[in-house]
Amino acid sequence: MTELQKPLAPKNAFSANRLIGVDDLSDAEIYYLLDLAEYYAGFVDRSEPAPQILTGKTQINLFFEDSTRTNLSFELAGKKLGTDVINVPVAASSLHKGESLVDTARTLAAMGADVMVVRAKEEGLHEQLSKILDCAIVNGGAGALEHPTQALLDAATITMEVGPLKDKTIAICGDVKHSRVASSDAQLFTRLGATVRFVGPAALMPSSNEFPDVERFKSLATGLDNADIAMGLRMQFERMADTDKIREAAKDYFNEFGLTHETMKHAKSGAKVMHPGPMNRGVEICGNLADDRSVSLIEKQVFYGVAIRMAVLDALSAKE
Ligand code: NCD
Repeated sequence: MTELQKPLAPKNAFSANRLIGVDDLSDAEIYYLLDLAEYYAGFVDRSEPAPQILTGKTQINLFFEDSTRTNLSFELAGKKLGTDVINVPVAASSLHKGESLVDTARTLAAMGADVMVVRAKEEGLHEQLSKILDCAIVNGGAGALEHPTQALLDAATITMEVGPLKDKTIAICGDVKHSRVASSDAQLFTRLGATVRFVGPAALMPSSNEFPDVERFKSLATGLDNADIAMGLRMQFERMADTDKIREAAKDYFNEFGLTHETMKHAKSGAKVMHPGPMNRGVEICGNLADDRSVSLIEKQVFYGVAIRMAVLDALSAKE
């Protein structure tokens, strides 16, 4: 990757001091973050140190739900920019002594946090924290509602590896109903001019009054027809009410909705496959397809995840 000039932030950008949902971003801020991620991806790609613009700042990662990619890439991103990063060991924290999530966050903010990255199943927590805390609040995943940095890294991956999202057709397949990734992706991709489709069984679709701009398909054959990208999603059993029934139904799921080299033939020739991870091989995606770098962008998504989080951390702290 060639060395790029650092892009200039749009005027008055990121003044709300938060990234909780895609709606927090103006179009100019979205394009700026994608450009900034491209700039930082160059340093990561060349294994060169990035400018230490966040030296002296403190970033606290507070993950109340499990995470590998998001938590660790936020940690790496912060460290690459020179910030002090603390990962809160939630399992060993005072939450187990009855302290509320808000009081835990308040305590951490009082230690001098400049930015707090929060993942929680409670969908209103981030809003609440951004009202009471002075530090920047970044959403690392909120229930089934939003995962804006995943959407940004997915958009960065498509832009860098396939081309601008405008006029692309992106089929998001599987457990859309319980997916914060599907929700944030659909909003962001639509904003960037792509056509978004949801593909999956009726039981895993969001209710019909949500996502009015997204077309819905009940089969891969029709849903992938002429698509540029197929995105697989894990069955998020932890958010399902009637888990036993759905687990039973999931046994046949791969035959009908599994992404494979064979089912990708419905898509445009040269179409790519994506997945936010963690993936369940043999359930929503075939391992051979996921590992085939001529089709799969899954590792690229992880790579751009670090760069997009560097961009978000830079943007939120540079606004001061
Ligand atoms: C996703 C999440 O946590 O929402 N993973 C991620 O952040 N890369 C998807 C999932 O859990 O299935």
